[in-house]
Amino acid sequence: MNIEEDYIKQACSLLNKGDLVVIPTETVYGLAADATNGQAVAKIYELKQRPQFNPLIIHLKDIEDCEKWAVFSEKAKKLATVFWQENPFPLTLVLRKKNSTSLSSLVTAGLDTVAVRIPSHPIALELLEKLNKPLAAPSANRSMSISPTSSIAVRQSFGTETPYVLEGGNCKVGLESTILDLSGDQPQLLRPGATTIEMLENVLDQKVISYQGSDLKAPGMMKRHYAPGLPLRINCLTANPDEAFLGFGKDKEQKSTLNLSMFGNLGEAAANLFSMLNELDNSDLYKGIAVAPIPINGIGLAINDRLSRATYSF
Ligand code: TXA
Ligand code: MG
Repeated sequence: MNIEEDYIKQACSLLNKGDLVVIPTETVYGLAADATNGQAVAKIYELKQRPQFNPLIIHLKDIEDCEKWAVFSEKAKKLATVFWQENPFPLTLVLRKKNSTSLSSLVTAGLDTVAVRIPSHPIALELLEKLNKPLAAPSANRSMSISPTSSIAVRQSFGTETPYVLEGGNCKVGLESTILDLSGDQPQLLRPGATTIEMLENVLDQKVISYQGSDLKAPGMMKRHYAPGLPLRINCLTANPDEAFLGFGKDKEQKSTLNLSMFGNLGEAAANLFSMLNELDNSDLYKGIAVAPIPINGIGLAINDRLSRATYSF
């Protein structure tokens, strides 16, 4: 076995047990987790110190694999064939999510769409081939600092907390992938990148509209947030009779309809957040949801951010 294979094997075993691995891509280095493991995905937010849950891109090795997780229209297939196969260019497609897959709902932040991309870096592709699972991977840097295009920059950002790094040299593109949303009526550019609007329009033979939001750093964040249909109250010690109680931590009196984490583990709570809200929301038994107080430290900040936004949605 050569040294590179050894490194990839090591990365696979870390990812399979729910650890993070820094991976090279042609755009920027990514902080990768097994996208089917909610607690692993929660570690991404923890390490990045992101105060908010943003849906993440899943990385896959080929189009066939992508089709297991996302619904491809003819248009999506056309773009995928050109930019992921024939003439690799960094492109992420936002597509309808396939139902009943094992994708963690933290990856999509509870949305019914999913962002997919095939990177073109040979080491990333080899890893995805061996791992045979989708990888959620935002840029490998702390929140608010710039995206790393070398492993040195990754180490500067995370210091002693840097996870295992798969070395892949300097990133050729140096800018995050273009994001195109194909889930609506018209193709919409959510994030500009090296694959330009003109290139997309040429292949699609159709106009692409630009994202009109005010917050370009977090495209797709504003309008598309998942919010439960039921009224939500936060920081509650008990629920009203017609409400479901979403608990956190030990529950001696068994007040919880569902519990985000019996042991008070914030990573576990984050992993359960969207799926549990969704489950309560879809039940006919309740008129509202009361949520227990969640500590505001670490990833608890993002959980509270999400919950407090959901209280404003009606
Ligand atoms: O170049 C890249 O794309 C890098 C490398 C590491 O591959 N990755 C990257 O991933 O930038 P990430 O997860 O940070 O990109 C997330 C962006 C967010 O701004 C998010 O709003 C958008 O993708 N996004 C993800 N899923 C979405 C969805 N379902 N709907 C709308 N936007 C989505
Ligand atoms: Mg980033």
